[in-house]
Amino acid sequence: MGVIARYRERLPVTDATPMVDLDEGSTPLVESRNIAASLGLRRLFFKYEGLNPTGSFKDRGMCVAVAKALEAGSKVLVCASTGNTSASAAAYAARCRMRAVVFIPSGEIALNKLSQALMYGAKVVALKGNFDRALATVRELADSYPVALVNSVNPYRIEGQKTAAFEIVDALGEAPDYLLLPVGNAGNITAYWRGFREYHEAGKSANLPRMVGAQAEGAAPIVLGRPVENPKTVATAIKIGNPASWEGATSARDESGGLIEAVSDTEILQAQIRLASTEGLFAEPASVAPLALLYRLVREGRLEKDATTVVVLTGSGLKDPDVAIANVEPPVELDGDARSLAKALKL
Ligand code: F0G
Repeated sequence: MGVIARYRERLPVTDATPMVDLDEGSTPLVESRNIAASLGLRRLFFKYEGLNPTGSFKDRGMCVAVAKALEAGSKVLVCASTGNTSASAAAYAARCRMRAVVFIPSGEIALNKLSQALMYGAKVVALKGNFDRALATVRELADSYPVALVNSVNPYRIEGQKTAAFEIVDALGEAPDYLLLPVGNAGNITAYWRGFREYHEAGKSANLPRMVGAQAEGAAPIVLGRPVENPKTVATAIKIGNPASWEGATSARDESGGLIEAVSDTEILQAQIRLASTEGLFAEPASVAPLALLYRLVREGRLEKDATTVVVLTGSGLKDPDVAIANVEPPVELDGDARSLAKALKL
C-alpha cells in the first residue's frame, strides 16, 4: 500500500483524487549497531529512504503531486532536478501514462539517476548552468503553459513527504529527540517538521524532535545566510545555491531548537564509507551529510548520548556509485587454484 492509501485522512485528497502509487513509503527504520556503539550513543536509527521504488524519498511526495495533477486534468509533468526528483517524476508519469519533461543541469547529475529518467521514458533536457537556474526556468514555463510543476514548490510534494515523519513516530511510538537530514532545496526538512507537528497536535507523540539539517560546505546558503552563486560539492543532489523552501528550513530549525550546519566533502565521503562498511547501508553522498554532522556533534558534546536520534538516508548509494568507489580499494586481480588463492587472501 502506498502513502496515499495509508495516510489518506492526513493528506489533501478526496474521493475525486485518482489513486496513484508505486507502493512507496514503509521504508525500514534500521537500528544502528556499530556506529552507535562507536559513538557511545544509546539509540540511533537510520530511516532508509533509498528503498523507495525509485531509490529516494522523492516518491512520497511525487505520488501526491501526480495524483493532484491528474485530478486537475494535467497531462504533462515538468521539474528541474539534481537527479532524484527527475527519476521519480519520470516513473510516476510512466505509471499514469502522462508525459514528463525534466530539466537537469548539464553534465552535473549522477549517471544512474539520468538512466532512470531516460528508461522511464521522460524527455530529458540538459540545461546549461546549475540547478537554481533550471528551477527558475521551469517555474517560468509552468506560469505560462499548461503543465504541472512537480518540484517541491508544489505544496502537494511537501504534503506527501511529511508521511516519513509519521512513519518514524509510528515505528518508535514517540518522536525522536533529534532528526538529522540533508538540506538542498529545503523541501524535505519543511515536510518532516510539518509531519512531526501534525502528529504531535493529533496526540500521537508527546514530544517534538530538534531538527538538524546538513548542507555541504560549498553549497551552504542557509548556513551562510545568503545565496551561493556557484555551489560546489561532491554531493550533487544538494548542490543548490538558493533553496526554494529557505523559509521552511529556517522555521523548522528555529521552532524546534535545532540547527543547520555545513560539512566538508571529505567528511561526507568518510561518513559514506563508515556507514557502508560498518552498518551494511549504502547511501548516496548527499544522504550521509547528516551522518558526518552527527559525528561532529557527538565529538563536540553537543548531542546527549542517551538521546534517541534518527538520521534520514534520503537516497540509495547505487544512485551514484562512481564517486563512492573512487575512495575504496579496487578489486584485486588474482588467479590460481584454491590453495594459492587462500594463501594470497590469508584465509
Ligand atoms: N537527498 C537527496 C538524495 C536528494 O536528492 C535531495 C534533493 C536532498 C537530499 C535534499 O532535499 O531538496 O528537499 O532539501 N534532491 C532534489 C532533486 C533537489 O532534484 O532530486 P531537499
